[in-house]
Amino acid sequence: MSRDLVLESTTLWDYPTQNYGDKPHGSNKYNGVTPAFVIWNLLQRYTKEGDLVVDPMCGSGTTIDVARELKRKVIGYDINVTRPEILRNDSRTIPLKDNSVDFVFIDSPYSDNINYSENKECIGKISCERMEFYDELEKTACEIARILKPSKTIGWVIADQWVKKKFTPVGFLMWQRLEKYFETVDIVCLTRHNQTSNTGIWHDRARQYNFYLRGFKYLFIMRKAK
Ligand SMILES: C[S@@+](CC[C@H](N)C(=O)[O-])C[C@H]1O[C@@H](n2cnc3c(N)ncnc32)[C@H](O)[C@@H]1O
Repeated sequence: MSRDLVLESTTLWDYPTQNYGDKPHGSNKYNGVTPAFVIWNLLQRYTKEGDLVVDPMCGSGTTIDVARELKRKVIGYDINVTRPEILRNDSRTIPLKDNSVDFVFIDSPYSDNINYSENKECIGKISCERMEFYDELEKTACEIARILKPSKTIGWVIADQWVKKKFTPVGFLMWQRLEKYFETVDIVCLTRHNQTSNTGIWHDRARQYNFYLRGFKYLFIMRKAK
């Protein structure tokens, strides 16, 4: 994908590849890695050179790589440290001052579907079918609201779940929590061509058990009040 791409003006973002350009951003070997182009697009829109960007759950460090490339300052935390630049921290308490950050990107767990690490504090150990999942993510949202400067923006990626014949509207449930702290700027669908469910087996299962294939994730773009 070319770096010369203009910023899309639609609300449907198709991201066929993990990375743009020649350099790696994060690691596509990391389960649940975020497509770098999504972060690139947000930083281009909502930050400028020298701004401080924070990712409280930065996984393989995609946000760190994109932010540095765009000459933003960046702090990446995670309880599962995969690289030396990542600081070990639980997102429910972020060691930064009030009103000190220009932009926060976060791609949180969506449920207990992925084993990120053996750390018991991983919110990805909690099923999205339990209220506790949203309660714990809300603590992170509250911290993000505290450290963010007034009128500044966040991007939060999350997806719905359909397992064992049960649908859980994770996106809507989480958005209700986020609304307590932020006003909504936009809700974007992130779609993907090469997703693993786009195979014959999954199409057959979907017909047999009468469910739709999940073809998208939500990107909530939200702003702290002035
Ligand atoms: C979807 S992944 C993030 C992927 C990342 N954006 C990347 O591109 O590699 C979610 C991350 O949340 C982290 N996580 C889960 N619970 C956490 C917590 N309480 N505090 C900090 N990080 C947490 C996991 O370790 C995992 O790396």
